[in-house]
Amino acid sequence: MMRIAIAGCGQLARMLAVAGWEMGHQFAFIADRGESTDCVAGLGDVVQRDEHMSGTTLFEALGQPNVVTVEKEHVQVSMLEALAEYCRVAPGPEAIRTCQHRGREKALLRSLDIATAPFELVEDAAELTAAVNTLGFPAYVKSCEQGYDGQNQWRLHDTESLDRLAAEMHALPPLVVEGAVDFDRELSLIAVRSVSGDVATYPLSENRHREGILLTSEVPAPNVKAHTLKQAEHIAHTLLSHWSYVGVLSIELFDENGALRVNELAPRVHNSGHWSQDSGVTSQFSNHLRAITDVLPGATQPARHSGMINLLGTEPPADLLQTRDTNLHWYNKSVRNRRKVGHINVQADDRARLKQRLTEIEAVLYPSDEAL
Ligand SMILES: Nc1ncnc2c1ncn2[C@@H]1O[C@H](COP(=O)(O)OP(=O)(O)O)[C@@H](O)[C@H]1O
Ligand SMILES: [Mg+2]
Repeated sequence: MMRIAIAGCGQLARMLAVAGWEMGHQFAFIADRGESTDCVAGLGDVVQRDEHMSGTTLFEALGQPNVVTVEKEHVQVSMLEALAEYCRVAPGPEAIRTCQHRGREKALLRSLDIATAPFELVEDAAELTAAVNTLGFPAYVKSCEQGYDGQNQWRLHDTESLDRLAAEMHALPPLVVEGAVDFDRELSLIAVRSVSGDVATYPLSENRHREGILLTSEVPAPNVKAHTLKQAEHIAHTLLSHWSYVGVLSIELFDENGALRVNELAPRVHNSGHWSQDSGVTSQFSNHLRAITDVLPGATQPARHSGMINLLGTEPPADLLQTRDTNLHWYNKSVRNRRKVGHINVQADDRARLKQRLTEIEAVLYPSDEAL
């Protein structure tokens, strides 16, 4: 049994700790200034970090953890490096440094020969305009840092929207400009590698978004060709061994007629892996903790079809949950417009039934949505 410190206090930290409590681990959480800690209330000690805290002070305040891990990529890397003087930090600071910056991430993928959207890094208005002219409309412009759930992102359709953004460039941080990928669907792969180098992957998940935020996942993704699965596994193994990665690594993918491009990486558990909590396998949360505490990954291949639908700014009506095939996960957050406040996992014996149930639940949760 170990003491595990998690940088971040959101729902992913909550679900990691809930899974870890079952294994007898104890937790401490690192909160940034102003960060809400509602999600982890009652699950361990919360340490408010100030930027000038030394590594040793933070390590002591966390109760001398055996391992430090993260629930998000936007973590100060120098803090992780300082903690690494005292205990294991997994995943390692270098993987987190790369994944917290879209430019560094894309450059690494390119250097490892892993396909991405065509992209250019830009720092001023002239570079932005030149990049969009090369890559064409529509162009996806994303801030290199601090982007998630569609934030700090612009989709440019025409010269007018380009000129508007270019006029603001002096106030903007470095950006990545991507050409549009004409994908058939979005997939993700959750992979895990333990301290001893044992690797496991979950089946590919097919993911749908609503207003730039994940709405549903379905596992296993339907109609995955053998070469597509092989490519996904190859991408995962390449990245895991590049970093000698420890923990869960999440890979968001675009599927174009069976050929994959990496959209983005997350050095942590991922929303599209939440289905694993109720599908009779070792969940992504348990497997992350096993990996960082040097335990072989547990089973990742579910016998049934599994799905997940996010609760975005909405509480489910009670009768929606009076069914045998659903499990509610609630994050202890206050409900605000579009905010991820929980999710519902669904199990089914076949793919058609899973799809039907997700559609039914979606219609109840988001009655005003047009067909997405
Ligand atoms: N180059 C692209 N071509 C087509 N669609 C894209 C592209 N980049 C992003 N998208 C769409 O926008 C969504 C959010 O982009 P992503 O880079 O994953 O940002 P976030 O960090 O907000 O998840 C993607 O899941 C995809 O639907
Ligand atoms: Mg994404």
